[in-house]
Amino acid sequence: MNYQVNEKGYYGDFGGAYIPEMLYPNVEELRTTYLDIMNEPSFKKEFDQLLRDYVGRPSPLYFAKRLSEKHNTKVYLKREDLNHTGAHKVNNTIGQILVAKRLGKNRIIAETGAGQHGVATATVCALMGIKCIVYMGEIDIKRQAPNVARMKMLGAEVRPAKSGSKTLKDATNEAIRDWINNPVDTHYIIGSAIGPHPYPDMVTRFQSIISEEIKWQLKEKEGREHPDYVVACIGGGSNAAGTYYHFLEEPSVGIIAVEAAGKGVHSGESAATSQLGKEGIIHGCKTLLMQTQDGQITEPYSISAGLDYPGVGPLHSHIYKTARGEFYSVTDDDAMAAGLELSQLEGIIPAIESSHALAIFNDKKFRPEDIVVISLSGRGDKDLDTYIDYFKL
Ligand SMILES: Cc1ncc(COP(=O)(O)O)c(C=O)c1O
Repeated sequence: MNYQVNEKGYYGDFGGAYIPEMLYPNVEELRTTYLDIMNEPSFKKEFDQLLRDYVGRPSPLYFAKRLSEKHNTKVYLKREDLNHTGAHKVNNTIGQILVAKRLGKNRIIAETGAGQHGVATATVCALMGIKCIVYMGEIDIKRQAPNVARMKMLGAEVRPAKSGSKTLKDATNEAIRDWINNPVDTHYIIGSAIGPHPYPDMVTRFQSIISEEIKWQLKEKEGREHPDYVVACIGGGSNAAGTYYHFLEEPSVGIIAVEAAGKGVHSGESAATSQLGKEGIIHGCKTLLMQTQDGQITEPYSISAGLDYPGVGPLHSHIYKTARGEFYSVTDDDAMAAGLELSQLEGIIPAIESSHALAIFNDKKFRPEDIVVISLSGRGDKDLDTYIDYFKL
């Protein structure tokens, strides 16, 4: 089974580039150049240096002793929450800003849900002195206020998306509209493993540093490169893609994906795409997508802004369809409880997105000798208001 994208941009039945004609030159320029750019020694050198000195990589692989005791298995946390800007998103924005510079672009646009990708984009634009516009749903602007302030402080313009559910999907629509209107000078930094080819592959490659590091870190700590399981939450799927990447073709490593079930998979208020989705096209790619009988996209819901998306990236649809991974759906309540548990057992307040991955212990029983690596994709600072309201702190 192959989990690399093929020449046409497909993972099995999923992927491709379904784009309006106006975007074709931009996407084609990227498609024909991205691998050459990423393979240039000068690119690699700059990327590695920034990841090390600016982002603070490698991020630690932390053995969570008390969490392990509680769940009677060996749990390691991949600490993407300790990256500069507080999440995995910056691995990708560093990579893409370097690509954009080499393509001669002087204006960056991005979409954001939780605001972490927006902050990571605003950050690299400040670093490079490039103009930055971030589209964000009106609801997300309210629930992720600290990140909105950070983006503004970094010099970015935050434009509200007021249509639909006023969340990530709608912000993405606005960003695509902007790109169509500004095709020459603008690069669109997509923040997840979604979008038209080559975005899912490009984002996955930038995020694959996560599993590259896990391999040698685990070798140092446990004497073996391969854990028994890797676990990650899935919004569009970038932290998951990066966490799985170097293990996908290694059948001894179990792949576990955790989606947001919101108020319950069948409550009508969820974002459990693998359970509810059917093949469809969203934001430039063919993938699993929550939709009505007649193909209209269903409005998603999750307490977590970063998982509040009606699709998953095409790699994940392929992993699901080929049964390479196990998919679980976690409700708001279970995720919040898991976030509180990590805070009080390990002294780490996770992003609510990551709390979904941490809730895996409700659904899956591991053996005491299993090594389970969980992607701690982000820190909880941005979510304090939501935690405060929920737990009446
Ligand atoms: C901390 C954190 N984790 C996970 C996600 C979900 O995105 P992805 O599925 O692309 O990793 C987000 C999105 O904003 C996030 O901020």
